[in-house]
Amino acid sequence: MKNICVLVSGGGTNLQALIDAQNRGEIKGGRISCVISSKESAYALKRAEAAGIPSVVVARKEYPDSKAYSEAILAELNRQKADLVVLAGFMTILDECVTKAYDYKIINVHPALIPSFCGEGFYGLKVHEKALEYGVKVSGATIHFVNEKADAGAIILQGTVAVENGDTPETLQRRIMENVEWKLLPKAVSLFCEDRITVKDGKAYVDLK
Ligand code: GAR
Repeated sequence: MKNICVLVSGGGTNLQALIDAQNRGEIKGGRISCVISSKESAYALKRAEAAGIPSVVVARKEYPDSKAYSEAILAELNRQKADLVVLAGFMTILDECVTKAYDYKIINVHPALIPSFCGEGFYGLKVHEKALEYGVKVSGATIHFVNEKADAGAIILQGTVAVENGDTPETLQRRIMENVEWKLLPKAVSLFCEDRITVKDGKAYVDLK
């Protein structure tokens, strides 16, 4: 069984989707062994507690810069013997000391169709504000491996939704979460734990059977 460490910063609906999938037996070959939060106030911590999953707070505000923070996260991941790291609404960009140590072992969910509306500064509701500002007619979410550049690692899965007239960042976010993120993140995690993702020339290929 692979040890899955889930990193969170906020509400944790994606963590909840992972917990629910695990409870339905849909995460094959792995189990959520730990939740690490960058904020003490994250509601995601309550979800972990309710599910009986151990959690740790490594507070971003206690570290002077991204490098020092990333070193603390790396130490915690090593302590937890993580086989897979899942960024589920984790709002801090990790330094390459982590991405190198866990090469092709960190998965992120991004709420847009990469390479659109991604990179530094594109997170949470801001992503949906930008998509609506541009006027795109479809949007969605991307599950991808994390490398040293923000939102630039190999894409594992993507899914789309239609943008509707009158959408607000909140309504679009909700549609993308319900229809794409909460389904594809658990699916990608299970595929990883079942060794059904291969990487060749920097691209990820999924064995969908
Ligand atoms: C999700 O929409 C996730 O895709 C996004 O933040 C939200 C977190 O919600 N992540 C990013 O923007 C990362 N760049 P949650 O805490 O309820 O899972």
